[in-house]
Amino acid sequence: MARRKKIYEGKAKILYEGPEPGTLVQYFKDDATAFNAQKKDVIEGKGVLNNRLSEFFMGGLAAIGVPTHFIRRINMREQLIRAVEIIPLEVIVRNRAAGSLAKRLGLEEGTALPRPIVEFCYKDDKLGDPLVTEEHIIAFGWASQQDLDDMIALALRVNDFLSGVMHGVGIQLVDFKIEIGRVWDGDYQRLIVADEISPDSCRLWDVKTGQKLDKDVFRQDLGSLTDAYSEVAKRLGVLPAQATPIKPTLIN
Ligand code: TMP
Repeated sequence: MARRKKIYEGKAKILYEGPEPGTLVQYFKDDATAFNAQKKDVIEGKGVLNNRLSEFFMGGLAAIGVPTHFIRRINMREQLIRAVEIIPLEVIVRNRAAGSLAKRLGLEEGTALPRPIVEFCYKDDKLGDPLVTEEHIIAFGWASQQDLDDMIALALRVNDFLSGVMHGVGIQLVDFKIEIGRVWDGDYQRLIVADEISPDSCRLWDVKTGQKLDKDVFRQDLGSLTDAYSEVAKRLGVLPAQATPIKPTLIN
């Protein structure tokens, strides 16, 4: 059998050519990186959890009319997605101060923000994904003013949805990052949510204890990353509450 074509390999995922034109297969690796890959590890099972969680979030968004690249899950680590032209920006929405915002503005981690704040970073690993303004985005042609308005609206709808879903299971959505892609319907373009939505790209804190249930567990060496992600998956009903490690079993 011919080997399928690899289109792109990133730090946490690989994209392969899909079975039909306009589709890709997105493979979730177990690799975890932080601080622009200065810290690296392989966390067994992370890819499986993120594949399931991203399916769950993208499916929920589709159900409320937010367009995403997700088509269907193929297996434990792979999903079929629509090929998009990725806009080279990370779109971040923050509800509370944490991470780079807390550091940049000298805010205490956890400080409530007056309203959700949307930020853009230019996707360039060599530069460490620098924060950019709307002026930069338009001047350098990464997106138009209309795209920007659409991206902000999309990001805020994702924030409302994710905040609500998480709140329902006792988790606070502190912030998250999404990537957005263009698809073409004839001469018309539409923007859709792409990449992934998972605890790799969100900050999630337990409402009662403040326990971190996201990639900060890896960034800050706070314990088992798969335990944290499994907890999120169990609460959302993505994994059975009594989930045990998946082992091959004999079927009688
Ligand atoms: P930050 O506080 O480090 O700027 O991160 C903001 C949010 O974006 C946080 O939820 C983690 C997520 N994020 C990514 O998904 N990828 C990245 O490369 C970085 C730096 C952050």
